[in-house]
Amino acid sequence: MRITLLALLVCCFTLPFSALATDAQLGEKIFNKRCKVCHNSLTHQRKIGPGLQGVYEREAESGIGILTEARLHEWLQNPKSIKPNTRMPKYGPMQDVEKRQAVIDFLKTL
Ligand code: HEC
Repeated sequence: MRITLLALLVCCFTLPFSALATDAQLGEKIFNKRCKVCHNSLTHQRKIGPGLQGVYEREAESGIGILTEARLHEWLQNPKSIKPNTRMPKYGPMQDVEKRQAVIDFLKTL
């Protein structure tokens, strides 16, 4: 009985965290390939776009409101749908919800 309980605990508490870690790692890879040219991730310093340190749930510099999870999904999927004159392009890989989620999970760690 004890062992079952313990197994249950281990499974329930470690699984979600390891899943999150993997997603953020995948997200970091995508970020380095697709986003880093225009965005710093470790500072607020602007490159072509705003520095993304602490970006999750802060007020957007681009004037699109608070960058919640839902807002980030909309933005990354199609920036122009929210801000028609934006200079941030739409990316193929960001049309895939799992990749988008991974990038957002990475943004949350900044
Ligand atoms: C060609 C350069 C470029 C690339 C590549 C790019 N962005 Fe951007 N990004 C911008 C610009 C420019 C803005 C500011 C948009 C505006 O003000 O209209 C922006 C804004 C943002 C914002 C909102 C920040 C804020 O404070 O308003 C987020 C989040 C973001 N980008 C994430 C990403 C992610 C994640 C990727 C990779 C999938 C990416 N960007 C790729 C240029 C780029």
